[in-house]
Amino acid sequence: MRIKDKEFDLFIHEDAIGKRVKALAGEISTTYAGLDPVFVPILNGAFLFASDLIKEVSIPCELSFVKTSSYDGTTSTGEIKKLSGLNMDLRSRHVVLIDDIIDTGLTMHSIFHEIMGMKPASVEIASLLLKPEAVQKQLEVKYVGFTIPNDFVVGYGLDYDGFGRNLKDIYRIKS
Ligand code: IMP
Ligand code: MG
Repeated sequence: MRIKDKEFDLFIHEDAIGKRVKALAGEISTTYAGLDPVFVPILNGAFLFASDLIKEVSIPCELSFVKTSSYDGTTSTGEIKKLSGLNMDLRSRHVVLIDDIIDTGLTMHSIFHEIMGMKPASVEIASLLLKPEAVQKQLEVKYVGFTIPNDFVVGYGLDYDGFGRNLKDIYRIKS
């Protein structure tokens, strides 16, 4: 499979993704029963994972998609992300952040802290994919679809230079 200038091989079939997403939704539905959680998916990457996951959640819940953008100016720690699009008050709410992939964990780390500042009752992270480097950021990702090697992947929301988000399966770059 070719996207722009790169070749990719099938890596995770849509059936395997579907099964895993359903299992995660079941786990979340049990854990959050009676807590009316708020799901906060991070655009654009999380759009397919979030919609498939939330469709399988069987308890009352709310949803607010957010986007990240970089702050103007830099800091010693590199790029800091700022959230936009949040249209609800998260104070005293049980929040589940949803992303497609956590690589270095830098993005999720800064989002997590920004959300914590809003004084929610709890915050957990759900990511479809997790790369091993994320461990360095000491992020606890409670709900992980698949832990994958440190290779570039596309499909099911994930892009290569803007393309490939529409693919039903996940593909890995050919080495
Ligand atoms: P982090 O801050 O390094 O964890 O970056 C996470 C973001 O980088 C993800 O939300 C993706 O947008 C992007 N990313 C990281 N790895 C991949 C990949 O293998 N394929 C596509 N996007 C990726
Ligand atoms: Mg992303």
